[in-house]
Amino acid sequence: MKATATANANIALVKYWGKRDAALNLPARGSFSVTLAGLTTTTTVALGGATDALVLGGELAGAEVLDKALRVVNVVRAAVGSTDRVQITSANDFPTGAGLASSASGLAALAVATAGAFGWDADLQTLSRVARIGSGSASRSLFGGYVEWLAGERSDGLDSFARPVFPADHWDLRVFVAVVSPGKKAVGSTSGMTHTKDTSPFHEPFLATVDADIAAAKRAVQDRDFAGLGRVAERSSLRMHAAMQGADPALVYLGSDSWTVIGLVRDLQRQGVPVFLTADAGPNIKVFYLPEAHDPVRAALLDCPAIRRLVAARPGPGAQRVA
Ligand code: PMV
Repeated sequence: MKATATANANIALVKYWGKRDAALNLPARGSFSVTLAGLTTTTTVALGGATDALVLGGELAGAEVLDKALRVVNVVRAAVGSTDRVQITSANDFPTGAGLASSASGLAALAVATAGAFGWDADLQTLSRVARIGSGSASRSLFGGYVEWLAGERSDGLDSFARPVFPADHWDLRVFVAVVSPGKKAVGSTSGMTHTKDTSPFHEPFLATVDADIAAAKRAVQDRDFAGLGRVAERSSLRMHAAMQGADPALVYLGSDSWTVIGLVRDLQRQGVPVFLTADAGPNIKVFYLPEAHDPVRAALLDCPAIRRLVAARPGPGAQRVA
């Protein structure tokens, strides 16, 4: 009747930006990510009450956020044939809506907690599909470490789920999320993707690069080839932003503070520091580095006035039921 689950955010090394089906969140291409320890959502689902409700970070969520959550809950309700209402309580230990993929950890934790509350004995692959219906990138947060989300081909989405590729301890990559703006993003990812697909002449060319980039990124992680992974991850992210910026009107998520951080990462690279960057649908920059570069990377980022907060993370576990 009640269950609690945790899930961590993930950062795509090869980006997802475009859907082949918006209702089911089926992606136009696959993607490849790393799930992080230290950016965690904890969600409790209790059955009962007169209406479904969601309290997020201590505040009653509005219709839009609740609707997203109910996409997940409704799949579970249908699977077990229940009409019970749910009381959802969820909290993140990092700022929401700023390109930190809080929807990924949130919907992944929700899928596990809802299945637990309804007593639905679903495997992780099934829960990955269910989380995907709430938010595409959430499919990847079911699993720890290095994860691939398969685009699939079926119109019912049964073949579009994530799978673990390498465990978290395969390679000790580190990441700082350089928070330049903790505010909510102006354009959500779903409408941003639709707008990019409908109006950007660079969207198809971006999509055409994804399959080869996933293969290259998997090879680089397998070989622990930091420079190789950095090349793929940076081109995937910056080509995604190029596709967004080619929309009409342009979709611009990176601001001047973002570019300051990008320039700083470029300077570190020129000095031979093992570091690369990626950015999602928001202004914050995620800076990956090897453990031996911790001190110079941290010092450079702390010294940068454009950065308001640094959040440190490393590869971590997938979603799990904790109560
Ligand atoms: O799944 P959504 O709707 O949160 O979209 C995520 C899109 C990006 O974060 C920009 C890229 C990705 O693959 O995570």
